[in-house]
Amino acid sequence: MNLVVVGTQWGDEGKGKIVDFLSESADIIVRYQGGHNAGHTVVYDGQTTVFHLLPTGLLHPGKVGVIGHGVVVDPAALRQEVQELAARGISVAGRLFISEAAHLILPYHRAIDRASEQSKGMRKIGTTGRGIGPAYADKSARIGIRMIDLLDADLLREKLSVNLLDMNHLLEPFGVAPFDFDTVYKEYLEHADALRAYITDTVQMIHKAMGSGQHLLFEGAQGTHLDVDLGTYPYVTSSNACAGGACTGTGVGPTAISAVLGVTKAYTTRVGGGPFPSELKDNIGEYLHRQGGEFGATTGRPRRCGWFDVVLLRHAARVNGLSSLAITKLDVLDGLPEVKLCVGYRFDGKVYDQMPASLRVLSNCTPVYETLPGWNEPTRGMTEYDRLPKNARRYLTLLSQKVACPIDIVSVGSSRSETIILRHPFEEVPHLRRLNE
Ligand code: GDP
Ligand code: IMO
Ligand code: MG
Repeated sequence: MNLVVVGTQWGDEGKGKIVDFLSESADIIVRYQGGHNAGHTVVYDGQTTVFHLLPTGLLHPGKVGVIGHGVVVDPAALRQEVQELAARGISVAGRLFISEAAHLILPYHRAIDRASEQSKGMRKIGTTGRGIGPAYADKSARIGIRMIDLLDADLLREKLSVNLLDMNHLLEPFGVAPFDFDTVYKEYLEHADALRAYITDTVQMIHKAMGSGQHLLFEGAQGTHLDVDLGTYPYVTSSNACAGGACTGTGVGPTAISAVLGVTKAYTTRVGGGPFPSELKDNIGEYLHRQGGEFGATTGRPRRCGWFDVVLLRHAARVNGLSSLAITKLDVLDGLPEVKLCVGYRFDGKVYDQMPASLRVLSNCTPVYETLPGWNEPTRGMTEYDRLPKNARRYLTLLSQKVACPIDIVSVGSSRSETIILRHPFEEVPHLRRLNE
């Protein structure tokens, strides 16, 4: 059984918590895109761990983690993450594998990322400044440097010297001091030594594991609406965060994917720029922000908050081929007198109930809401669906019906135990569809 876990909104849906929970049932956990722009939080045994590049499943002793070729790797960030885990007694030696075809992030990528954001002024994307976009741009321009090049000192010298010449030239008008070849080359040779043991042909490895009946979990980073093809372009990241990215980013064909689990918050958040039709700039938005602790796990920036957006989710259900949903942070809505679902966007006399591609529509529309009564009883820490307040169940049922996707998991707290399972996504049995009865 091979399961893809994908974000359905603008990232930070709680993928880390859900992947950690499901890793128990998987043998191998594979990251397929993005880089250390991701921040996946796991709370277990009173300790909080934020994963950026490493697959979240590595927190479980004995589980194998793979960084697929769709990921862009900053070797310094990766080494730091490995060291931080080691300092806590968690070793990834022998159970971390990095694709030899994964592209590297180099110092000039970070500089270009920052310079291009600065020059955009008001139109800036609000990137994480990690060099993600420029690294993917080089990959597409066919001048990227890959993990395997790191292991060949001569080839690395050749590629790096050509690239540095071009990049220094490009950065000059922004007042960025030129990068010195010897310094960068030496630094990356050091990274090569430190990472050599992890670099391998992960396509072959994954296929061998699948052939021997192992269970794979593909861990998406970011979210569907940050996907470079399917998201709110240009306010997106530069990779395919949707479920399709699991195939291209790891070398697994679509027929090998058994199911796709979409992770979604019970409301919506977004960090960085870009349209957000159901955004709340009032005291309810402030309430969600405070109750949900909505600060970026990577950059610490405050996240924008709003009501749950059915239009956004219906699009995500389609383009990812979602089998089911994991709803997180239901507990954050506890205590609100009423809760709302955004079911359409009104613009220029027309109501859109399907995701419009036009930035003009998305940025200037007025949300159309359906309002439901809230609930006062705390849901935090509950483990049985039937014990949830009646109005919370009503909210979930309507949400599931409107998105046309069954719910497998409801999360009511950040820790592993604060989870309600309606159907385990790794079970290959038809969904009970209890919610729709
Ligand atoms: P990811 O990027 O999708 O993995 O999500 P993040 O880790 O960036 O952000 C999700 C935040 O919500 C983290 O701080 C989690 O610990 C927290 N979280 C996840 N699930 C729940 C939940 O059900 N309830 C509450 N209150 N917090 C949650
Ligand atoms: P996880 O995996 C939320 C956002 C940035 C910015 C845009 C482009 O934790 O859900 P980039 O640095 O990727 O070029 O920035 O994408 N972004 C995220 N937002 N969660 C993430 O990851 C994100 N990764 C990137 O804020 O708006
Ligand atoms: Mg995150």
